[in-house]
Amino acid sequence: MSPPTSSSSSLAEALRGWPPPVLDPAGPFSQSVTTLSWVLIGLVTLIFIGVCAALWVALYGSAELRARLGGERVVKWFGLIIPAGVLLVLLVWGLLMVRGLTTLQGDELRMRVSGNLYWWRVSYLDASGREIHADANELHIPAGRPVVVEMVSEDVIHSFWVPRLGGKMDMIPGRTNRLKLQADEPGSYGGQCAEFCGGAHALMGFVVVAHAPADWQRWMDDRLKPPPTQLSVEALRGQQLFNEVGCAACHRVAGTDAQGIAGPDLTHIGSRRSLGAGILPNTRATLIGWIADSQSIKPNNRMPAYRSLTADELNALASYLEARK
Ligand code: CUA
Repeated sequence: MSPPTSSSSSLAEALRGWPPPVLDPAGPFSQSVTTLSWVLIGLVTLIFIGVCAALWVALYGSAELRARLGGERVVKWFGLIIPAGVLLVLLVWGLLMVRGLTTLQGDELRMRVSGNLYWWRVSYLDASGREIHADANELHIPAGRPVVVEMVSEDVIHSFWVPRLGGKMDMIPGRTNRLKLQADEPGSYGGQCAEFCGGAHALMGFVVVAHAPADWQRWMDDRLKPPPTQLSVEALRGQQLFNEVGCAACHRVAGTDAQGIAGPDLTHIGSRRSLGAGILPNTRATLIGWIADSQSIKPNNRMPAYRSLTADELNALASYLEARK
């Protein structure tokens, strides 16, 4: 995988790559899912070959072979005892695996992610579960350390899935699930909503950025500093517009009057790699395009189109948001 400083095109590859990077684990939790998947694929292949062979015998075998295939012992073993045994072993294996993916050891970094139509609210928690930093659509984690993600939903059922780092877990309204992730190496790892949740379900992506542990600590220290106060004239105009046209009703920008919570937190939007929950690289052009008409990019998302803004106004807004690093 490319390092966290990778260009937007490799981000797009990580996110929109096809086929999705399954069976290609980059950490221990994904590894355990992958191992079980291969065992299942192997067993299914064996059973398929066995069933084909039995079918062949039933159709074309000699009378003696056919009589044996229908014999009581064959039916008892291959129709009952062996399938029940295989299913029991897989059930126990699966339950133990899920326990491994969800049991806390105490040294995990704690995060909370909540699913929304069609984006992800991200919180970094301290040891007692209090939010210390809010963000959206991007998870930054230290490599080599387990992270536990508490999952909730604010509307319908979503499913949180980072194929290379862990299992897949539903986000269910009114309930908290949890799942552990770990990346062995720094890099960007694509994530995707894996439960059909509405028209733009396929466009509900995110990215997990794993940093070397010291880099991650620096990143987090940066986040906890007060926001920048020096803004260009254009960015100041953008800040004013941000409040005037209504952005602040839904979006929060820490340290300002904008405290909306209906949409993604934009305090650090300028340093995010993607826009629209993992679907566009974050550039001036895509940012302007998103503000002006996000509905044509992601139909039915909850942000109205702002087609009435002039090019100057859009540039001012973009300039303000780009400065929110
Ligand atoms: Cu959220 Cu599919």
